[in-house]
Amino acid sequence: MTNPIEAVRLADPYPGYAALVATRPFAYDPAVNAWVAADAAAVRAVLGSAALRVRPVAEPVPAGIVGTAAGEVFGDLVRMTDGDLQQRLKGVVAQALGSTDPAYAARLAAEQTRAALATGGEVPFEELMFAVPARVVAGLCGLDADGSAQAARLIGEFVQCIPALATPEQQRSAALAAAGLRELLGPGIEDAGAAGAAEEAGTGLLAALVRAARDASWTRTAPLLANAVGFLSQTYDATAGLIGNTLLALTRQETPKSPAEREAFVREVVRHDAPIQNTRRFAAEPFRHGDAEVAPGEQVLVLLAAANRDPAVNPDPHSFRPGREAPAVFTFGAAAHRCPGENLAVAMADAVVGTLLDSGFDPACLPSGPFGPAEVTYRPLANARIPVL
Ligand code: HEM
Repeated sequence: MTNPIEAVRLADPYPGYAALVATRPFAYDPAVNAWVAADAAAVRAVLGSAALRVRPVAEPVPAGIVGTAAGEVFGDLVRMTDGDLQQRLKGVVAQALGSTDPAYAARLAAEQTRAALATGGEVPFEELMFAVPARVVAGLCGLDADGSAQAARLIGEFVQCIPALATPEQQRSAALAAAGLRELLGPGIEDAGAAGAAEEAGTGLLAALVRAARDASWTRTAPLLANAVGFLSQTYDATAGLIGNTLLALTRQETPKSPAEREAFVREVVRHDAPIQNTRRFAAEPFRHGDAEVAPGEQVLVLLAAANRDPAVNPDPHSFRPGREAPAVFTFGAAAHRCPGENLAVAMADAVVGTLLDSGFDPACLPSGPFGPAEVTYRPLANARIPVL
C-alpha cells in the first residue's frame, strides 16, 4: 500500500485501502508514524474511545497560532476539543444546525450557482465548489451578499492554519482572517443575544445558536462566535470535495433522472469516494484494539474512506449503487465528534450539481473519473479529496 496520506490524492486509492482492510485493519505504519485504523470495526472503536482525543494533550492549539485570533477560534471549536464542556457546546452547535432547513439552504445554493453561471464562459468550478457553499452558510448566518462574499474569501485563508504542516506565512494570514471573520459574525451573535426572548432573537443560524445556548444555560459568547466561524471552516473543503467528486462520478455513472435519485447519487458518492478520507486521533491514555496497544502520545490515522468500503459492513462495497439500504458510512465521522452538518452539506452539494446539470452542463466534458483512464489530479491535501476541475 502506498502511504495512506498520499492515497488521498491518488486517482484510485481504493485497491490500496481494500488491501489494508483485508490484511492490516489496525496496525502501526512507520511511513506515517501513526497507527492506521482501516476496517469498520477499528474505525468505530477508535472514534468511540475516550482515551483518544482530537488534539495532542501537550498542544491543544497549534503552537504557531497560539495568542492570535486564529488560535482563540481554534481553541474553542467543538471539532478541536474534547470532554464534558465540549459535549455541552456540541449539543448547542448541533441543535442550531438541526434547526436550519436544508431545503432553504438548497434554494440559496441553486440561486448562487445560477448567479455564478450567469457570467457565461467556462464553468467556474472553483467558485461552485468552494465559494458557493461558503456563501450559503454565511447567508444562513445572516450576512448580506457582500458580507457573504467576504466571509467565503476569509474562510479560505483561515483553513490554511489547520493542517499540521501549515507554514508561518499561512498561520499569519489565518490569524488575520480569523479576526475578520469574528468582525463579520460578531454583531449577529450580539444582536441575537441582546434581543433576549426566543422569538425576538430572530431567524437564522446565529439566532438559533444563541437560542440553543440559552436553552442549555450556556453563557460564554466567545465559543459561540468561534463555532460560527467553525460552520464556515467545516463547510469549506469538505463540501468542495463532495461537489467535485459527484461531478466526476457523473462521468462514469448513469445520470440520475429525478431529484430523489440525484440525492441518492450524492449520498452514494459520500460513501464511495469520500470527500474527507481520514481524520486523526491522539492517545491521552492507553488504547487497546485486539492485540494492538496504542501508548499515550501516539497517533492514530483513521481511514474513514477505507471503512466505507469494508465488505463486513457494506455488501459489494466497491460497486457504486445509489439507494443502498442502511449503508454504513464513516465519511461524517462517528460518536462524540460526528458531523452535525451532514444534511446541510448534502443539500448544498445536490443543489449545486443539480443546477449545473439543469443549465445544460455535460459531465462528459470533464476528465473521466473517478477511476477512469484519464488522470484526474487532486489538491495536495492530507485528508480532503478535492479534484482539480
Ligand atoms: C461533505 C461535507 C462534510 C463532510 C464530509 C464532513 C465531515 C466531517 C467529519 C468527518 C467530522 C468529524 C471529524 C472527526 O471526528 O475527527 C466533522 C465534524 C464537524 N462538522 Fe462536518 N463535514 C461536512 C460538512 C459540514 C458542514 C456543511 C457543517 C456545518 C455547516 C459541518 C459541521 C461540522 C462540525 C461543527 C463538526 C465538529 C463536530 C464535533 O467535533 O463534535 N460539517 N465533519
